[in-house]
Amino acid sequence: MGRVLCFLIFFLFLSLPNSSVSSFSFNSSTPLCLSDQSSALLHFRNSFAVSYSNHYCDYFSYPKKKSWKMGTDCCGWDGVTCDTMTGHVIAVDLSCSGLHGPIHPNSTLFSLRHLQRLNLAYNHFYGSTISSKFGGFANMTHLDLSDCYFAGNSPSEISHLSKLVSLDLSGNIDMRIETPNLKRLIQNLTHLTELVLYGIDMSSVSTNCLTNLSSSLTSLRLSYCQLKGKFPDNIFHLPNLQILRVAYNYNLTGSLPTYNWSTPLKSLLLSETEFSIDIPNLISNLKSLKKLLVGGCNFIGSSYPTFLSNLTQITSLDLSYNNFGGQCPWSLLNNTGLTFLDLSYNNFIGQLPEVTTNLTQIFSSNNSSNSQLVNKIPSNLEYLILSGNLLNGTIPSWVYTIPSLLELHLDHNQFTGHIGEFQHNSLVSLRVSFNNFSGNVESKIFSKLKSLQYLDMSNNPHLSLHSFTSATNILSKIHSLQLSSSNITEIPQFLRTAEYIEYLDLSNNHIKGNIPSWVMEVGKDSLYYFSVSRNNLTGHIPSLICNLSSLIFLDFSYNHLNNMIPPCLGKLSDNLKDLNLQSNNLNGTVPTTFAKGCQLRSLKLNGNQLEGALPQSLVHCRNLEALDFGNNKINGTFPCWLETLLELRVLILRSNNFHGAIGNPKTKFPFPNLRIIDLSHNEFHGLLPTKFFMYLKAMMNANADKGELKYMGDSYYQDSVTLVMKGNFIDLVKIQSLLTTIDFSNNNFKGEIPNVIGELRSLKGLNFSHNNLIGCMPQSLGNLTNLEWLDLSSNKLTGEIPIQLVDLTMLAFLNLSENHLFGHIPQGKQFNTFMNDSYYGNLGLCGFPMTKACGNDEGQQPSPSSTIQEDDFEFENGFHWKVVLLGYGCGFMFGLGLGYLVFSSGKPKWLVNIVYGGRHNKLRRS
Ligand SMILES: *[C@@H]1O[C@H](CO)[C@@H](O)[C@H](O)[C@H]1NC(C)=O
Ligand SMILES: *[C@@H]1O[C@H](CO)[C@@H](O)[C@H](O)[C@H]1NC(C)=O
Ligand SMILES: *[C@@H]1O[C@H](CO)[C@@H](O)[C@H](O)[C@H]1NC(C)=O
Ligand SMILES: *[C@@H]1O[C@H](CO)[C@@H](O)[C@H](O)[C@H]1NC(C)=O
Ligand SMILES: *[C@@H]1O[C@H](CO)[C@@H](O)[C@H](O)[C@H]1NC(C)=O
Ligand SMILES: *[C@@H]1O[C@H](CO)[C@@H](O)[C@H](O)[C@H]1NC(C)=O
Ligand SMILES: *[C@@H]1O[C@H](CO)[C@@H](O)[C@H](O)[C@H]1NC(C)=O
Repeated sequence: MGRVLCFLIFFLFLSLPNSSVSSFSFNSSTPLCLSDQSSALLHFRNSFAVSYSNHYCDYFSYPKKKSWKMGTDCCGWDGVTCDTMTGHVIAVDLSCSGLHGPIHPNSTLFSLRHLQRLNLAYNHFYGSTISSKFGGFANMTHLDLSDCYFAGNSPSEISHLSKLVSLDLSGNIDMRIETPNLKRLIQNLTHLTELVLYGIDMSSVSTNCLTNLSSSLTSLRLSYCQLKGKFPDNIFHLPNLQILRVAYNYNLTGSLPTYNWSTPLKSLLLSETEFSIDIPNLISNLKSLKKLLVGGCNFIGSSYPTFLSNLTQITSLDLSYNNFGGQCPWSLLNNTGLTFLDLSYNNFIGQLPEVTTNLTQIFSSNNSSNSQLVNKIPSNLEYLILSGNLLNGTIPSWVYTIPSLLELHLDHNQFTGHIGEFQHNSLVSLRVSFNNFSGNVESKIFSKLKSLQYLDMSNNPHLSLHSFTSATNILSKIHSLQLSSSNITEIPQFLRTAEYIEYLDLSNNHIKGNIPSWVMEVGKDSLYYFSVSRNNLTGHIPSLICNLSSLIFLDFSYNHLNNMIPPCLGKLSDNLKDLNLQSNNLNGTVPTTFAKGCQLRSLKLNGNQLEGALPQSLVHCRNLEALDFGNNKINGTFPCWLETLLELRVLILRSNNFHGAIGNPKTKFPFPNLRIIDLSHNEFHGLLPTKFFMYLKAMMNANADKGELKYMGDSYYQDSVTLVMKGNFIDLVKIQSLLTTIDFSNNNFKGEIPNVIGELRSLKGLNFSHNNLIGCMPQSLGNLTNLEWLDLSSNKLTGEIPIQLVDLTMLAFLNLSENHLFGHIPQGKQFNTFMNDSYYGNLGLCGFPMTKACGNDEGQQPSPSSTIQEDDFEFENGFHWKVVLLGYGCGFMFGLGLGYLVFSSGKPKWLVNIVYGGRHNKLRRS
């Protein structure tokens, strides 16, 4: 949470256009306008389509439209300023004018050669590069081309504008600036006071060239520029610098100089950089600092945040993500000017003190404060964010009455008692999930919340929500409603009038009956996330569902829905990315209507009674990553046509009526990304598909993508799947992106296990059990050094167990029972841990752990290896996966235009309940 909010607030700081969208027209009463200038202006403006869609500009009116008329004095037009002596147009402000289209080099704009100020911020010059012609305005002093969707390289001709005082190219995230151009610009623009380039790609820039910045510089803003390397010290000595923002340059290093600075710095943003910050040094040098944002930074020396209260002028302070511990530095709150304080994601303890200052934003999520919220907070508070602490007791009454509150987040704490009546007209976001609230939630609690858009009350097991869900006429502005694990029995009635609903999570409740058709009406233009999974829904899925044309995520899994899947669902997939209908009673066939451009990323139909063949139209869904058709009655042969899906990672056909031989690939690089394939419990026959094994690229490069633990899915949804791992059904609520398994068990495969299987070095699990395989176990199995489970039981394998298997040091589960193996069981390492049940039914095997000794080797029973922890035997007692609750990042949500609060919310508990991981590391012995 903290991260996203922090980011947004950061952006507010950065981009709310106080200065950048100011109009600099002044009155001129004498009509002076020269006709060529007037027509050049009109021509320029009319070369664009106009559409007011820039959300930054909602804050402003668009005055510039009306007065621009042929035949009137252009010097009187909104946003136009002329020189009173010569009549030349010297300033144009067309910011926020909804202009759409490219600016060509032949544009009449460039004939306005006397321009001194030009502001085109917040328009849409899609994909055009900044023309070199911009370098032709010899007297330009202020140029603002921010947030204009410019792309490509910044032109070197900008450096011809040697009179520039202010240059703002920020927010054009597809733009680049490279070292030579930046160097030239810095050398020639000696009058610059303001240089604003945040968001531009500066990844190739050598930070050295920032050394020669103009000494008149007052503001330097280079956040989100992918800058790396060492930030030049001397910038801190620029005598006039007041604003320095270089945050979110993750690989930018540097330190604050230790001797007296001449800079009158007021605003310093270093969050998420590699800067080393020494707090005492900072305090002694920057006494007049007003804004200090140092989230996720490196602190050195005897840094202690309490010292920061010495910054008596401070108004905004971000210390989030810094591993600070100890008492919360509440003394900071004695700085009367402080309005914004973010202490989130540290390990602070201590009680929130009484605050009497003008604090309007307080963020202290994810600390360890276990106390009650007793002291009063100032009445002009707008953000009170205390998620993820250990706060207990009831919500004190003053919280309900803070008049200006916009966001109240008390989720993931230990609050108890009733939820009271909120009096906040202005509250936009309320989160009280994951607490121990109790009692009956009356609808009147929410009746005053006329502005509420985001509500999360999920996971309060003792709350009774019946009055709330049956209420109407409340929460008419709601965008996001999260009520998972809330014991509700109906879809909330007030949603009937919730025309803005975008995100609806009602999973894990007791909702029964049919899916009401009014839902499809209300959400038809806006609903993109809809989960009613794990309820008691019955009846069929109405084809009206296809009205929900904005859907990206639909989850009706684990209900009792029956009848056919509406065929039109296939057509919804030009938006729909994740469709989960697993574990219902659906019958009929899989929709065949997946059209070209299908966006589906995951399709889960496991555990129904679907029949017929798989629709070949699925190949239109080029982004498919996970397909799960397990436990149905689907027939047909192996869908080898899926081999062309480049992104396909998971293919589950378990327990169906598939038959026939798998055959050979039809293309050169089949299934290049496949990592999990489960064909078990079908009637496949013929030889094992050697030719496929030869090309399963993603199963081979075990070391190619080591590193960060990642999970399959996208930002708001993680794939889950059920696999048989080490002999047990495991619900993987997250799929580690590196998990690689093959399960071909319980079919009629015959012939030998091909040697090439040893190439699939990423494999963690291999199950060929219950087939008719013959021949020896290939020695190449010893190459599968990542293997954690191997099941070849109930086949007709002969020969000895290859000694090479001793090197599979990750192997935790081995089942070779019911074969015709003979000879010595390999000894040592992992093999000391396997018991009889790994081998029974192979009458010819001898040595530990079998009772039958091997001739000369008698008495060589090994003692248990001291390197193996007792823990490692867990799997024998039913195998007990560690429940690891891993944090999930919320990430930055660009481009979706969705409420950011939605994503930072808790996932339903079941989704994070069992997590794969934690165990295999223990088995690694080195
Ligand atoms: C300017 O150039 C563009 C593209 O090169 C062209 O489409 C357009 O017609 C030109 N406009 C004028 C006024 O010449
Ligand atoms: C630029 O300014 C200078 C000095 O004020 C003036 O003489 C010159 O005409 C101006 N040039 C243009 C193109 O306006
Ligand atoms: C610097 O600006 C002058 C005009 O003032 C221009 O003639 C010259 O080319 C510029 N130099 C660079 C390196 O751009
Ligand atoms: C930072 O540097 C590391 C190591 O050089 C690199 O792996 C990583 O991708 C870089 N991160 C960014 C955001 O540039
Ligand atoms: C903070 O201010 C106090 C009182 O003015 C002073 O004693 C202390 O040395 C200062 N701390 C730092 C680190 O500057
Ligand atoms: C804030 O200042 C008051 C009065 O000066 C003092 O009593 C109090 O202890 C201070 N609070 C903190 C948390 O330092
Ligand atoms: C709070 O803000 C108001 C108006 O901005 C100001 O007059 C007042 O002095 C401030 N109070 C404190 C304690 O800083």
